[in-house]
Amino acid sequence: MANVLIGATGSVAAVRVPALFDAFTAAGHAVKVVATDAATYFFDPAPLRANGALVLDSDEWPGTRYERGDAVRHIELRNWADVFVLAPLDANTLAKLAVGLCDNCLTCVWRAWDTARPVVLAPAMNTLMWEHPFTRRHLRALAADAGAGHIPAHLADDALIQQINDRSPTLRVVGPITKALACGDTGIGAMAEVPDIVAAVQAILAKAKAA
Ligand SMILES: Cc1cc2nc3c(=O)[nH]c(=O)nc-3n(C[C@H](O)[C@H](O)[C@H](O)COP(=O)(O)O)c2cc1C
Repeated sequence: MANVLIGATGSVAAVRVPALFDAFTAAGHAVKVVATDAATYFFDPAPLRANGALVLDSDEWPGTRYERGDAVRHIELRNWADVFVLAPLDANTLAKLAVGLCDNCLTCVWRAWDTARPVVLAPAMNTLMWEHPFTRRHLRALAADAGAGHIPAHLADDALIQQINDRSPTLRVVGPITKALACGDTGIGAMAEVPDIVAAVQAILAKAKAA
């Protein structure tokens, strides 16, 4: 059993956030979700809010003046989580992660993250975004920071993800899949299936426990 923090961003695949929450809960984990404002366009936050499992930017910035001793939610979440699962990870937040921008609660968790702890990324975006050179550049930057060493720029997507997953002790990428996308295109970019994301998390948690 682990403390699983789901980071949800503004991909249409955020419709799967409740299913992800349920799947990790069913696997015996304690689960919390930190979501960007854009993510909440795609799922109903009410049930997760009702049981205190969902943290939003409005919790970091409640509209009242900060007083010493008030909670700093991104640090609380960072301290609580054993693993950070960014699912879905959209193109915008992927770019922020790669350069360290931290302008919302989710990216502040990332920026304060204990880099010895595991991270699982499940990118989800339109095919054109996925195939843009920025995507590889950002994934390669994250892989280098996560101990995967230099990963050549010329690799095909599958090989790139395989090398990251083989070489990094802490980072796992669950690559997107090909299907009919919400925009009407058919192509690669849809978020991986929920059981595959859960399996990747289980595997890296088991590895971390064995180390
Ligand atoms: C209907 C709709 C669907 C979207 N789907 C995606 C997506 O699947 N992947 C993606 O990278 N961006 C997608 N976007 C764009 C992001 O929501 C946008 O870049 C947003 O600023 C992301 O903010 P965040 O990273 O803070 O969540 C979508 C936008 C809309 C309006």
